[in-house]
Amino acid sequence: MAGRLRFDNRVVVITGAGSGLGKAYALEFAKRGAKVVVNDLGCSLSGEGSSHGPADSTVAEIKQTGGIAFPNYDSAEFGDKIIKAALDHFGRVDIIINNAGVLRDNSMVKITEKDWDTVQRFHLKTTFSVTKSAWNHMKNQRYGRIINTSSGAGLYGNFGQVNYSSAKMGIHGFTQSLAKEGEKHNIKINTIAPIGASRMTSSIFTKDILEMLSADKIVPLIICLAHENCSDNGALFETSGGWVTKLRWQRGKGTFFSKNFTAEDIEKHWVEINSFEHCDYPRNGNETFQKVLTLMEEANFPKPKI
Ligand SMILES: NC(=O)c1ccc[n+]([C@@H]2O[C@H](COP(=O)([O-])OP(=O)(O)OC[C@H]3O[C@@H](n4cnc5c(N)ncnc54)[C@H](O)[C@@H]3O)[C@@H](O)[C@H]2O)c1
Repeated sequence: MAGRLRFDNRVVVITGAGSGLGKAYALEFAKRGAKVVVNDLGCSLSGEGSSHGPADSTVAEIKQTGGIAFPNYDSAEFGDKIIKAALDHFGRVDIIINNAGVLRDNSMVKITEKDWDTVQRFHLKTTFSVTKSAWNHMKNQRYGRIINTSSGAGLYGNFGQVNYSSAKMGIHGFTQSLAKEGEKHNIKINTIAPIGASRMTSSIFTKDILEMLSADKIVPLIICLAHENCSDNGALFETSGGWVTKLRWQRGKGTFFSKNFTAEDIEKHWVEINSFEHCDYPRNGNETFQKVLTLMEEANFPKPKI
């Protein structure tokens, strides 16, 4: 018995599960009773070529220990093929881990349109396509857990990664909006931003650091978020080397100009506008609108018709 959080009779689809973090997830889900669809295109780090090898090797490892899995070799851009294969094979889909991805790092001077498009397709489009293809199924069964994969490079920016950062930040935008659609159907969608040892990080870190950041340290958060006990929705977590934390938006008190104002007025209040001394933690765009309405009311603006 692998532990308290079990996935018996659950079907999980994991993109990019032939190597790196995705493979670590697949092995653990299988140990905990899930039926695993191991999707992997088997491409290079930059998204070239294809091979059945990575998906087959994960499936073989799962089967060796008595687990249930089958491979799928489509690019996760074609989510319809992956979800159809999952439904044909296992009859349901409960969990999606959108994990596949590649790198085409280049500074703005050197980046090509192809580098840009490939990274958007392999991260953002794959996340949309697999999720969209399973959405009605999850809605109808009134159950789903979806975990999307962002990155610190997306959340904070990183030199030479404008394509990757844009896609990875876009993925969390996708999570935040879809979480609002999924709520009433008991579909929870969350994002993780991991740092773990894989071919993606093997040239960045030393051997010692890579050992400290082993992929299996990302697995527990994934398992927790994928379980039926998870009540978080639209949230963002960072995890690496055994450290796990949640992130949220923080907004300063700002400055409200109740009369006509100019760029010079903004400049004059720049310190106040940039201050986080008093702040709140907005959860949706409506809270911006509500805040402005309150500020107007306090400044005795005529009450608007809504
Ligand atoms: N490793 C890290 O520290 C780190 C940090 C931040 C984010 N991430 C993200 O985590 C995810 C997993 O990264 P990793 O480090 O395990 O990478 P990895 O390169 O080791 O594994 C990625 C796997 O995805 C597969 N893949 C790529 N494009 C695909 C596609 N279109 N369809 C199907 N399979 C495809 C590859 O063949 C590969 O097996 C990625 O989204 C990555 O951007 C990783």
